[in-house]
Amino acid sequence: MANPVSLAIDDGIAVITVDSPPVNAISVAMRRGLSAALSLLADGPVPRGVVLLCAGRTFMAGADISEFDSVLVPPDLRQVLWEFESLACPTVVVLHGTALGGGVEVALAAHYRIAERHTKIGFPEITLGIVPGAVGTQRLPRLIGAEAALGLLLDGKPVSAEQALALGLVDALVDGDLRAAGIAFMQDLLAAGKGPRRTRDGVVEPLSEAQIGVLRSKSARQHRGVITAELDIQAVRAAWELPFEQGAAVERVLSEGSLLSPESKALRHLFFAERAVSPVPAMGPSAVARRVGRIGIIGSGTMGGGIAMAFANAGIAVVLLDVDQAALDRGLAMVRKNYALSVKRGRLTALAVEQRMALISPTTQYADLAQVDLVIEAVFENLALKQQIFVQLDQVCRPGAVLATNTSTLDINLIAAVTGRPQDVIGLHFFSPANVMRLLEIVRTDTTADDVVATAFELAKRIGKIGVLSRVCFGFIGNRMMDPYAREAERLVLEGASPAQVDGALEAFGMAMGILAVFDLAGIDVGVKVRQANPQQNSPDPTFYRCDAVLYEQGWLGQKTGKGYYRYDAGSRERGVHAEAENLMAAEAARLGVAQRTNITEREITERCLFAMINEGARILEEGIARCPGDIDVVYTSGYGFARWRGGPMFWADQVGLDTVLAGIEKYGRQASPADWEPAPLLVRLVSEGSTFTAWQASRHG
Ligand code: 3HC
Ligand code: NAI
Repeated sequence: MANPVSLAIDDGIAVITVDSPPVNAISVAMRRGLSAALSLLADGPVPRGVVLLCAGRTFMAGADISEFDSVLVPPDLRQVLWEFESLACPTVVVLHGTALGGGVEVALAAHYRIAERHTKIGFPEITLGIVPGAVGTQRLPRLIGAEAALGLLLDGKPVSAEQALALGLVDALVDGDLRAAGIAFMQDLLAAGKGPRRTRDGVVEPLSEAQIGVLRSKSARQHRGVITAELDIQAVRAAWELPFEQGAAVERVLSEGSLLSPESKALRHLFFAERAVSPVPAMGPSAVARRVGRIGIIGSGTMGGGIAMAFANAGIAVVLLDVDQAALDRGLAMVRKNYALSVKRGRLTALAVEQRMALISPTTQYADLAQVDLVIEAVFENLALKQQIFVQLDQVCRPGAVLATNTSTLDINLIAAVTGRPQDVIGLHFFSPANVMRLLEIVRTDTTADDVVATAFELAKRIGKIGVLSRVCFGFIGNRMMDPYAREAERLVLEGASPAQVDGALEAFGMAMGILAVFDLAGIDVGVKVRQANPQQNSPDPTFYRCDAVLYEQGWLGQKTGKGYYRYDAGSRERGVHAEAENLMAAEAARLGVAQRTNITEREITERCLFAMINEGARILEEGIARCPGDIDVVYTSGYGFARWRGGPMFWADQVGLDTVLAGIEKYGRQASPADWEPAPLLVRLVSEGSTFTAWQASRHG
C-alpha cells in the first residue's frame, strides 16, 4: 500500500503533504502515513511549526466510506488527531476544494486553519446517517460554539470559506499556491510569537432546550426518517456536560452505533449507487461525448418549458420551438412565472432571471434548429406526431446532432426508425417539474450509438441531474415499476381501505407522498388516458384500476377539479375526506363482487404495494431494462420520493429478505387477482439460491 503522506522540512517548518486521488479520502494508508509522519516529528528535533495540506483537487473529503463495512484497521484517526493536536509547535492546516467530514475533523485538531477562498467546508455525515467519529462533535462546538456547530452537523450542507471565516472555523482566507500560503501564514504566526492553540482546551456554552428544539425541527424537515440528528444532539450535549475526553468517548459510542444502523447502510448504498450510474467508463473508446453547446426544444408546454429552464439555469443556450406564437407566449409566460416565484422566495435575483430568459430563444421555424447540437422533443404523447417531428428534425438538423425525445410511454425504436440516423436518437425522460427533479432516465434504443449515450450522461451532469440508463420498454424503469405499486394502492381502496389509510401507510413507510395523493396532484385523467391508449398493458383482472375509472367517469380529476381521491377546498392542497367518492367506490366493489374488508392493516398496504413494485423490478433486471439493482434504487430515490434512508426498493427488498418478499407475493396472489401476482422468475431463482439482488449483481461482475 503506497504511502500517500510525505514530509519535508522547509526553513525549519515541517510540511506534511497528503496525496491520495481523487478526493484524498482518509483511508487506512493515509492514517498510517499521518501517524508515521507525526512520530517522526515527535521523535526528532522539534520543527518551528507544521503545515499540513493536500495535493490534487481537494483537501480530504472525509473518511474513506468504502471502509465503513469492515472492522477498523489501526491506527484510529482519533488517536492520530490527538497526537497531531499535542505537537509542541504550532500547526496550521491549509484547506481547499471540498473539506468534508473527517477532513474537517483533521483541520479542527490543528492549532490554526486557513482556506483557499473557494473552499467548501462541511459535515455531510448526516446524509450518510452517521455521527462524526473523529471527535468533531467535541472540537467543533469548542471552536465555533454549540449552536453553530449543531447547525452545521444537522444541516449537512457545506458552507463557503467566507462563511467559515465568519463562524471562526478558519482563521484566514488565502489565494494562490497553497504550500507557499501555509508557510507564509506559519512565518507570520512565528514572527508574532504565537504558539500552539489546542481546540480541545476550549469551553462550550450550553444550549437551552428551546435552542435545541429549533435546530431539531429544522433538521427533521430536511432529513426525514433519519435518527442521526438526535444522536448528534446527544454528542454535542456531551461537549458542554463532560470534559473533552469523556465527551469523545460518548461520541465514539454514538458514532460506532450509527454506522451499524439500517439507515446508514441504506444511505451509504445510495452514495455509491449514485456514483456508479454511468455505463460510459465501461464502454471504452467508442463512448466519447459529443460537444454540446446549443440545445433545441420542441414544445413549450409543461415539460418543454421546464427543460428549457433546466438548461438556462446551467448557462446553456436554448432554441424553443412551438407550433405558433400563441403557444410560445403561453410557454414563456409559464417559465417567467416560475422564475418570478424563485425571485419571491429569495432564491434568484431579478438580474439572474433576465440572464436566463435571454438564453431562451423562442421560434416557430424548424430552420432555426439547423445549428443546435442536441434537440429534445416534448410535444403531445402521440407516436404519429412525434414521428412526423423526427422526420423534420432529420431534414434540418446538422449531421451529428443528437435527437432526443421526452416521451414517457412510446417505443423510441419506432421514433428512431423514421430518421436516416437512428444511431443519433435517444430518450431523455425528464420528470416534472423538469427544472427541479433530479432524475433523468436516459433511454437507449436498439440502435443508439455509444457516444450518444455518453453525450447524454455528460449533459445530465452539466445540468445537475442524475442520469440513469434504461432500455426501451413501456414506462421505462420508473413508471413501469410504479404501475403495479399504484395498482395495488388503488385496489386496496376498492377492497375497503380509505385513501387516507393507504397514503398514510405509504408515507409512514417513507414515501414523500402517498400514491393516491400523487394521482390527485398529477390529474386522474393522466393515468386513465395512458391506460386507454395502451390496452395491451392492462391486466385482465376486472378490478384493475377501477377506482381511477370511477373518479374519471365522475369528472373528479384531482386537485384541478377540487375532487379526486380526496376533497380539496378552493386554493388549498389540504386533503379532506371525499365521502361521495368513497361511497361510489364501495358501490363499484359491490358491482364487481369484491367484499370490502375492515381488517386491512398498514402492513398489508405497504407489503402489497412494495412487493408488487419489487417483483416488477426483478423482471426489469432480468430483461436487461435496468443495468443493476442500484440503478433502480437511484431512479426511485431521486425521481419518485422513495425514502433515501430505505435505500430504494431493491436494497430494501434485500434487507427484508427476498424469501419474505416472495412469500408475500404468493400469499397476496392467493388472496385475490392471481393474474397480477405472478412471481418474477429472477426472484424465484434468487430465493431458491438463498441469494440477494446485491449478490446477484456482484456475481455478474465477477
Ligand atoms: N470515501 C470513499 N470514496 C469517496 C469519498 C469518500 N469519502 N468521497 C468521494 N469518493 C469517491 C467516489 O466514490 C468517486 O469514486 P469513483 O470515481 O470510483 O466513482 C470519486 O471519489 C469521486 O467522487 P465524485 O464522483 O463524487 O466526485 P465529485 O467531484 O462530484 O464530488 C465530493 C467530490 C464533493 C468530495 C463528493 O465525492 C462527496 O461529497 N464525497 C463524500 C463526502 C463525505 O460524505 N464525507 C464524509 C465521509 S464520513 C466521515 O468523514 C466520517 C468521519 O467523521 C470520520
Ligand atoms: P403539454 O401539453 O404541456 O405541452 C405540449 C406542447 O407541445 C404544447 O406547448 C404544444 O403546443 C406543443 N406542440 C404540440 N404539437 C407540436 C408540434 N407539432 N410542434 C411543436 N410543438 C408542438 O405536454 P407535456 O406534459 O409537456 O408533455 C410533453 C411530453 O413529455 C409528452 O411526450 C409527455 O408524455 C412527456 N412527459 C410528460 C411528463 C409530465 O409530467 N407532464 C413527465 C415526463 C414526460
